[in-house]
Amino acid sequence: MTTENHNNNTEKDTYEIDTLTNDKLISEHSYDGIQELNNDMPTWWKWLFILSIVFAIVYLVRLWVFRADDLMQSKEFQSEMAAADLRKSEKDAGSAAFELMLLEDGASLAKGKETWDKICAVCHLIDGGGLVGPNMTDNYWIHGNKLEDLWRVVEEGVLEKGMIAYKDQLSQQQRLEVVSYILVDLVGSTPANPKEPQGELYE
Ligand code: HEC
Repeated sequence: MTTENHNNNTEKDTYEIDTLTNDKLISEHSYDGIQELNNDMPTWWKWLFILSIVFAIVYLVRLWVFRADDLMQSKEFQSEMAAADLRKSEKDAGSAAFELMLLEDGASLAKGKETWDKICAVCHLIDGGGLVGPNMTDNYWIHGNKLEDLWRVVEEGVLEKGMIAYKDQLSQQQRLEVVSYILVDLVGSTPANPKEPQGELYE
């Protein structure tokens, strides 16, 4: 390896050029055979550096001078709170209009059946005969046979027994439709393979 000496008077560091690689080698900066280099930064890196400074200036001017909405924490907080209030009032209005009453019209029951076949039948079977979950066609109920009883089970589930809570997966309306479908259409029907009764007999 041939090296030539570059003694630059304006710079403190003296370095040599490796003629094979054009690397600038800082003399006396060699430790355990590892030589420190004094190469120029790559152009893309310098641009990244300059752009990050430009970004910072723009950011600070927007934050401190123009007080831009999307950068101010206090404004973000206010708009989040306003959005939450709106959601809450919508929810209150929704539940005020909602009434827990058995649906008996064909359209609602058809929608209830759709939900039942798609989601509930895995455990209760399409015809309601019962599999993992209990039989829905007999008059034996573990948690009661009133609309409110079934509603509560579907809403909150019986997690320790494997019945899922559907409060977050189905809308109020969908839950009411499927529970109505059970009470109007499934109860009293004759499934192919009814599961043995569970719970108490309700007349
Ligand atoms: C992963 C299986 C599974 C799915 C899916 C499932 N259930 Fe259940 N369900 C059960 C089990 C298990 C029980 C019994 C709970 C107990 O022993 O307390 C049950 C109980 C019930 C009961 C109370 C029955 C009684 O005797 O009091 C109702 C009502 C009910 N499920 C409705 C539904 C509806 C409606 C759906 C669909 C939206 C559904 N289930 C989906 C497993 C399931």
